[in-house]
Amino acid sequence: MQRERWRSRIGFIAATAGSAIGLGNIWRFPVVAARNGGGAFLLVYAAIVAFIGIPMLMAELVLGKHSRTNAVSSFGRVSGNHPWALAGFFPLITSMVILSYYSVISGWVLFYLWSSISGMLLAGTMGFAGFFTAVQANGPLNLLLHGCFMVLTAIIVSRGVGRGIERANKVMMPAIAGLLLILVVRTLTLPGAMQGVNWLLRLDVTHLSFGVVLDALGQAFFSLSLGIGAIVTYGSYLQQDADLIFGSSTVAVSDSIIALLAGLIVIPALFAFRSELPVGPGLAFVSLPAVFLSMPLPRLWATSFFLALAFAALSSSVSMLEVSVAYTMDAGGWTRVRGTVACGAAAFVLGVPSAASSSWLARYSLFGRNFLEGVDFAASNFLLPFTGLLTVLFVGWVWGGGKASREAIDGNHPSMRAVWRILIKFLAPLVIGYVLVGGLLLRQLR
Ligand code: PHE
Repeated sequence: MQRERWRSRIGFIAATAGSAIGLGNIWRFPVVAARNGGGAFLLVYAAIVAFIGIPMLMAELVLGKHSRTNAVSSFGRVSGNHPWALAGFFPLITSMVILSYYSVISGWVLFYLWSSISGMLLAGTMGFAGFFTAVQANGPLNLLLHGCFMVLTAIIVSRGVGRGIERANKVMMPAIAGLLLILVVRTLTLPGAMQGVNWLLRLDVTHLSFGVVLDALGQAFFSLSLGIGAIVTYGSYLQQDADLIFGSSTVAVSDSIIALLAGLIVIPALFAFRSELPVGPGLAFVSLPAVFLSMPLPRLWATSFFLALAFAALSSSVSMLEVSVAYTMDAGGWTRVRGTVACGAAAFVLGVPSAASSSWLARYSLFGRNFLEGVDFAASNFLLPFTGLLTVLFVGWVWGGGKASREAIDGNHPSMRAVWRILIKFLAPLVIGYVLVGGLLLRQLR
């Protein structure tokens, strides 16, 4: 059977940006940026995206494009069944683990969307913090929502690369941008909002530290969907003449713009209405609903926000599921529908403990956190950077920076090839390795 392909360049970019733009941009980025001192963090983040993020996006895309196979098999195909072929299982594990709990959080988003439309959220008699706790503590509800979200993801994936993933993203991406733009205009015109903008953009270099670089790198990895095989898989559906520099930069820039827009909604809104900045998921699920409630037309704003968040989550989860589905199709000869049902079901089962983490499993902990937070902690601080490190080492050293750069960048840009080779062979592995080891030590010591 002929391998599927993107139908158009814009479709490929929409899908890849869709993978990148997710929960990570809308609720994680503003919190991480604020915690690390605003403007100084933004500068470090921008540098990491430019010098490590874009080159790594290109490395993952070119690995997929060259091997024309899924992320798992790409390592074996390019290295000729060297022990390196085993490295391919890391993207499979990482994508499954992250999808398993990403779907649980996304399930809450679905519930909040539904409660915003129906008015139940804003009528809240128990307060927003109480509402959020009640949602989390309801085991059966979590299983149901986790299941619904996984089914939505599977429906899109089962329809294929062009008719499913590409088409859905071409609708969802403009919708997210439009909804967020409307929300930005709304929050920036609130009295007192400019204070929040100044606070987000303030340049306080005394904040710069190893911890800031660590957070910026972790955020960039998660946000650009690196180290999970999703970008490798999407790269395998590219046409031979695709322009990877253009594709990667467009994706990285759109991802950063959406994160910044989210920051410009969340921080000024909090400034206009309350002073303290909550950390973590509480931001989207507790503080923002309170902000919406104090505006005229609260239902409209809450619905727009949670709709954008739901689309962002879905366009990301689709790319996570596609990693394993493509593997079953390429390596096992399965049909897309069979692969989707099997992998979706497996990810659902894997996510059950996360869905139960605040109910049936509330008594148990993992790395001193509840189960969902423990898995997130291990996956985003260890699995993601580790899989990313394997991928750059593989492209830069095993396949070879020279060969990879000839495939990634066309002959009219010899100096770009040289720069990219250096970034991929030396800078990216050094920084990721340093941060991985340093991060483990630093977190141990804390
Ligand atoms: N980039 C997505 C986000 O910001 C998360 C993601 C990670 C998606 C890895 C796919 C692969 O939420």
